[in-house]
Amino acid sequence: MSLEMSTLVTYAKTKGFVYQGSEIYGGLANSWDYGPLGAQLKENIKNLWIKEFVQKRKDMVLLDASIMMNPNVWVASGHVGSFSDPLMECKECHTRHRADKLVEEALERDPNFPVPANWAWDKTPLEDLNSYNTAGHLACPNCGAKNWGEVKRFNLMLSTSQWVTEDGTSLVYLRPETAQGIFVNFSNIARSSRKKIPFGVAQCGKAFRNEITPKNFIFRTREFEQIEIEYFCKPGTDAETFETWLVDEGKFFTDVLGLKSDKVRFIEIPAEGLPHYSKRAGDFEYLFPFGWGEISTLANRTDYDLGAHMKHSGADLSYFDPYDNTKYLPYVIEPSIGLSRLTLAALCDSYDEIPGEEWTSKVVMRFAPQVAPIKVGIFPLVKKFSESANELYGILSKEFMCEYDEAGTIWKRYQRADEIGIPFSICIEPENYDQGQVTVRDRDTGEQEIVVIVELIEWLKTKGC
Ligand code: GAP
Repeated sequence: MSLEMSTLVTYAKTKGFVYQGSEIYGGLANSWDYGPLGAQLKENIKNLWIKEFVQKRKDMVLLDASIMMNPNVWVASGHVGSFSDPLMECKECHTRHRADKLVEEALERDPNFPVPANWAWDKTPLEDLNSYNTAGHLACPNCGAKNWGEVKRFNLMLSTSQWVTEDGTSLVYLRPETAQGIFVNFSNIARSSRKKIPFGVAQCGKAFRNEITPKNFIFRTREFEQIEIEYFCKPGTDAETFETWLVDEGKFFTDVLGLKSDKVRFIEIPAEGLPHYSKRAGDFEYLFPFGWGEISTLANRTDYDLGAHMKHSGADLSYFDPYDNTKYLPYVIEPSIGLSRLTLAALCDSYDEIPGEEWTSKVVMRFAPQVAPIKVGIFPLVKKFSESANELYGILSKEFMCEYDEAGTIWKRYQRADEIGIPFSICIEPENYDQGQVTVRDRDTGEQEIVVIVELIEWLKTKGC
């Protein structure tokens, strides 16, 4: 059964994955809050990423840089000057749209749809977009009119002010990507961690963009979370390093997070669509209910960022390579993932509606055990067994997120567990509990297995919890 986005939004709210932000005040456009299950799901994805790419590797370290940075960082990175999208307003209904996205959406519907002259996605020259509009190619998605105002560039940086004196303010930006915090700390990290190139730095955190058309639930929002890696390598080894990351990132999505492999693809960005500093780039996309959408960008950023910060700050960011006594500016391969989008992909991927009559159909969230917000359900068969069930909760909750539920029939509790994606549920019955055993039910097969309590933690770990 194909999933509608509106169904998922309602389901996510009902079960406590994601709520509308500031709901009791009528909400705030495009802001979302992660509820108890959503917050845990996002945390699990982030921790699996850290485990895979930092903990398991000798060549990676973690960083947590500030959201507000010296504004010169964003001048040097090019964001103040050119981090913008082409914005146009419909003169009839006054809704605002991204010119490049409207062309892209038209191309998705009809691959032969004409594109503007010098088409380069969001980098298409404004004069070409304006003459394209004058020729009447694009209709307003809101009212259908073809009466557009002039296309202008709209900077996506969000800013606030930091008081520096009693009578004045100083403009600071909210970072639009976590990456720059890594670049400006490159020398600090290389020195203090004693890592030798090639090595990488991983960072998780919030990023902010004043998106023109935020949409599709938590897919495109003004406040979101990124998990980014900047992998520093010797110039000349960058092409090979890119290939390695391409494989590793793909495996992370399918093998580690368990996303369906036919719903994940990598699309190479053609040379004419690459930013000037990028040698090669592409996007990992997931097949969302609204179509393919980018979840990650993999880019060869060359030595552009370190070079730009060296020029603007005057700091020497070059690296002395002890292996061959050479000094150079490292090249950077950047696997940059949107954590909020990956969380949305995990929700879409696991949502499984089992059809039936209106009152019997049910939803099972088939999260991979390692991703599931709650790993184990602990259910005393009847309330009088609650002492044993609480004892088991005390043991298992040291290792796993557990859910304790003693309300309703056991089948009702299994169903509630399925609905929030708990992979294993344990029913406590005194006959086998007193013999040191429990019955564990598998969410996906419905099969029940007797497991010895002292082996339970290990058993659950081997199942991926
Ligand atoms: N440092 C490189 C960089 O930021 P990007 O392609 O602009 O590259 C990386 O962003 C990832 O961040 C995207 O692939 C996407 O998953 C996520 N992302 C970007 N803008 C977003 C938004 N407005 N809402 C949610 N996620 C976003």
